[in-house]
Amino acid sequence: MNFIDIINKKRTKRELTTEEIYFVIDQIGKSPDYQFSALLMAICLNGMTHREIADLTGAMLYSGDIIDLNAIEGIKVDKHSTGGVADTTTLVLAPLTASCGLPVVKMSGRGLGHTGGTLDKLESIPGFNIALTQNEAIKQVNDIKAVIMGQTGKLCPADGYLYKLRDVTGTVQSIPLIASSIMSKKLAAGTDAIVLDVKCGSGAFMKNIDDARALANEMVEIGRQLRRKVTAIITDMDQPLGNNIGNTLEVIEAAEILKGNIKGDLYEVSLTLGAEMLVLGGLAKDTVSAREMLEENIKNGKGLAKFREIIVRQGGSPYVLDDYSRFKQPKLKKEIYLKKGYVTAFDTESVGRASAALGAGRTSYDMPIDYSAGIVINYRKGDLYDGKKPFAVMYSDDKYKLKDGEEIFVEAVETGSEQPEKTSPVIEMIR
Ligand code: URA
Repeated sequence: MNFIDIINKKRTKRELTTEEIYFVIDQIGKSPDYQFSALLMAICLNGMTHREIADLTGAMLYSGDIIDLNAIEGIKVDKHSTGGVADTTTLVLAPLTASCGLPVVKMSGRGLGHTGGTLDKLESIPGFNIALTQNEAIKQVNDIKAVIMGQTGKLCPADGYLYKLRDVTGTVQSIPLIASSIMSKKLAAGTDAIVLDVKCGSGAFMKNIDDARALANEMVEIGRQLRRKVTAIITDMDQPLGNNIGNTLEVIEAAEILKGNIKGDLYEVSLTLGAEMLVLGGLAKDTVSAREMLEENIKNGKGLAKFREIIVRQGGSPYVLDDYSRFKQPKLKKEIYLKKGYVTAFDTESVGRASAALGAGRTSYDMPIDYSAGIVINYRKGDLYDGKKPFAVMYSDDKYKLKDGEEIFVEAVETGSEQPEKTSPVIEMIR
């Protein structure tokens, strides 16, 4: 078999065989980057069949460790978001579904670019340890039903290599490549079923519903071919999901939901994803009864108690949940006023970039971040902004960063005279 023939085959829109796809993945470290780059571009332009995508996922999945969670009793259900802004569903639904009896092994990532990362949010809790071994994680889930941690082992090294190449060759935006990249990592993490939160809109990879639907269908199809239950839920990312953006601020918003103090879009998406997790996990017969279980555990405080238990078990201080001033506090604050009118649009990606510019995010993996930096937005799309209170409040430790963040933010929000329709943040479900 020869790499050039495979590149030519894809360039001329022909279907690659299973053996050819496994050969390509086996060539990582043996063939030059430029051959992989050429093939990635051919895939980007000419696409792949469902079978090719399932094979590519399988080949990447078997390129590294596969986590064995058999020592945990029950059906393990994972949740994955394709990435958004103020997207804190994990911190709501991991403790909440675990409090209903679901074993939750949540391997999360760090924020990069305009999107936040669950690990950074958790590390804003003093003492919280995200670096657990596989055995420690399994013991914790058997003891208290939930763990939220960084990835263990070397999962999907082939995806790591290809993702870096895609990043510098203009080949990130390809549905076959995104679907296989996400699904190989999720399947390697060893769970029995997966709920995918496919974001759609100005703050997401998929900017329109057709692309989001195509990506969602593709990932559900990969699950079917690789015999794993997968549900994809398409949710709106045309505005930040929650009102708080930034690490500490997002932990606080999740805690407020678990305390039953606030509802809204973050609540709605978290409960929709959580209900589907309970159904796939066999703990509820349908999403209506699953949702009732989740709502009940917000009312009776069991969800919040589970969050506290996870924090204590992973070395963090649970007192921050009772007294938010125990979090590191920002040195500076700036109130933002905009032109009065209905809130008509957010450029959500830019809102995420504004928060990162304040110090809440990073542009490379090893950059330090400021946990207390971020933005609290007081209005949502369709609200009438009358200018009496600030549209948003920004927090940072650095006056130059505050200025940068403000400049990006004010350009990212539109107000106008026509009220746009308020729509549900849950757009569509694909099982
Ligand atoms: N997230 C991933 O893990 N891979 C992609 O290709 C895109 C988003």
